[in-house]
Amino acid sequence: MITIRKCAGVDVPVIIDIHDALANGTEDAGFFLGPACADAMFSAVSSTGKLFLVAELDRSIGGYLLADTAWVPPDGGVLHPEFSPSIPHIHIQQVASVERGAGAHLYSHLIDEFGGHSLSAFVATHPKRNVRSARFHLKMGFSAVATFSASSFAGIFGYQSTLFAMGERR
Ligand SMILES: CC(C)(COP(=O)(O)OP(=O)(O)OC[C@H]1O[C@@H](n2cnc3c(N)ncnc32)[C@H](O)[C@@H]1OP(=O)(O)O)[C@@H](O)C(=O)NCCC(=O)NCCS
Repeated sequence: MITIRKCAGVDVPVIIDIHDALANGTEDAGFFLGPACADAMFSAVSSTGKLFLVAELDRSIGGYLLADTAWVPPDGGVLHPEFSPSIPHIHIQQVASVERGAGAHLYSHLIDEFGGHSLSAFVATHPKRNVRSARFHLKMGFSAVATFSASSFAGIFGYQSTLFAMGERR
C-alpha cells in the first residue's frame, strides 16, 4: 500500500537520487527540474510556503511532490478564469515517481486535501515533449490552459511548456 506523508530532512538524499535518476535518464524526455540543489531541498522541508510530500511503499520512497502554496501568476496576472485571485492556489514545482502509481497517489492526496485550492503545473513541450507527464496530468483531471514560450530559458533555447490547471473542487 502506498502512503503519503510529509517529507522529512532524512528523506532528502533519497529524493535527490530519484530526481537525478529521472532527470538524467533518456526515457523521461522533457523532465526539466534544473539541478536538485541539496540546500534548497532541505530548506523546502521546513519552509512555510512549500508543500513537500513523499509516497512511501514498504518503507521505501517511490515518489515525491514539491509544491508552492503561495504562488502568484507572473506580474500578478490572471492566466485563466480558474486562477481567480480570490481562490488560493498551489503551483506544483516538481513531481516524480519511480514506482508506478506513486504519482497518482500524490496527486489524489493534493486534490482531496486541498479542495479549496486551484492547482497548476508546467509540462515541457519543446525542445523535448514530456508525453508521459502530459498524459498523467490529463488523467488526473487537469486541463491544458496556457503555453509558456521563451527564446532562452535556463540555458535552453526555444523552450516551451504547457500550463496544466485544475480549478477548486469545493
Ligand atoms: C509523470 C509521473 C510523475 C507520473 O507518475 P506515475 O506514478 O508514473 O503515474 P501513474 O503510474 O500513477 O500513472 C498515471 C497515468 O500517467 C500516465 N503514465 C504513467 N506512466 C506512463 C508511461 N510510462 N507512459 C505513458 N503514460 C504514462 C498514464 O496516463 C497513467 O495512467 P494509466 O496507468 O491508467 O495508463 C512519472 O511518470 C514521472 O516521475 N515522470 C518523470 C518525472 C516527470 O516528468 N515529472 C513531471 C514533470 S512536469
